[in-house]
Amino acid sequence: MSSQALFDGAAAALHAVFGREPEAGLAVQAPGRVNLIGEHTDYNGGLVLPLAIDRGTVAVAARRNDALLRVHSTSLGATGVIGAGAFARGGGWLDYVAGVVAAFRSERLPVAGLDVALASDLPRESGLSSSASLEVAIATLLDVAGHLGLDGAARARLAHRAENEFVGVPCGRMDQLASALGQRSCALRIDCRDFSVRAVPLPGERMRVLIVDSGVRRQLAGGDYGRRRAECEAGLAAARDTGIAPATASTWRDVDPARLDDLERALEPALFRRARHVLTENARVDAVCAALERGDLARVGALLRAGQASLRDDFEVSRAELDVLCELGDATPGCYGSRLTGAGFGGCTIHLVEPARARDVAAAIRSGFAQRFGREPAFHLVAAAEGAGAL
Ligand code: GLA
Repeated sequence: MSSQALFDGAAAALHAVFGREPEAGLAVQAPGRVNLIGEHTDYNGGLVLPLAIDRGTVAVAARRNDALLRVHSTSLGATGVIGAGAFARGGGWLDYVAGVVAAFRSERLPVAGLDVALASDLPRESGLSSSASLEVAIATLLDVAGHLGLDGAARARLAHRAENEFVGVPCGRMDQLASALGQRSCALRIDCRDFSVRAVPLPGERMRVLIVDSGVRRQLAGGDYGRRRAECEAGLAAARDTGIAPATASTWRDVDPARLDDLERALEPALFRRARHVLTENARVDAVCAALERGDLARVGALLRAGQASLRDDFEVSRAELDVLCELGDATPGCYGSRLTGAGFGGCTIHLVEPARARDVAAAIRSGFAQRFGREPAFHLVAAAEGAGAL
């Protein structure tokens, strides 16, 4: 992200809307994320491999001498106020801010009174975690304003509570962790059983990350995501009942992937396919980490393609637009591999490309997609960036 441009925009808004100037130390940024592989595994206690990207949210603030939090969003041109009392969920952007405030208060963490202006260069509802970026930016701002000394993992946990408990989206913790803990030039292998994190360096000179936005908007709160999550839980319960999963298994991570054949016999076909996706996806995450570590990008690409097939056929979260974007990428020389990224049902695809051929791959995708759907997708060539922090 161009933090400077976002900072300038936010600072100008703080002045125009509230007549305030940003205070020293009260300017933070939090990136969006793209997931390299490990989809729908986070809420199943599994493995994910996201990277924070160089697009995100900047928040600037000035202290107030009361407990009010007044917040202005430059992208929406909207202003909201959160008082000291309970905040009623309104179904809009302010819920993400209020949710973080509620999470802080429920853990008896002080919430400073502030005037805040926000600026972002992330497209909304396209699967690049604009909401996690906003939540983590607010958690980071409240942390620095209150001199609380929280670490990135704690901010991510509070941001995730906001989304789960207040906004009401039953997501896993991947997006908030990626935004809070990202590392420059690295992806993060996160084990969602214990939330341990390992940085996996990306070979930037040989590989660029191209994101293509299908333009199909999706909302996690609207049903499909929650249904998949419920199917995973139902399948696990059935696996426990039949003794294939240990009685103590609390997520699919506690189930031996070698029992897939038994699972196929015991589970309803759709629940089996969901489980097969989760169990094989965990293995693909570690296989991608190993291939990245030995610099075998052809293998990384093949694993991404296998991940896409699994999301399409087993987890059933792809759709024609996303399939076509991946097929077009995979058919173009210079593209190692493609898959949908994030929850699916719409949003973006990720393509790993040779740096010198990134433009050619994008051009081939653009024209092929336009032929099929009569419109052009949007492109973002991104770099792996540092996680949230002071500006
Ligand atoms: C969304 C959720 C994440 C994760 C992905 C799918 O991005 O917010 O927690 O479940 O979908 O991998």
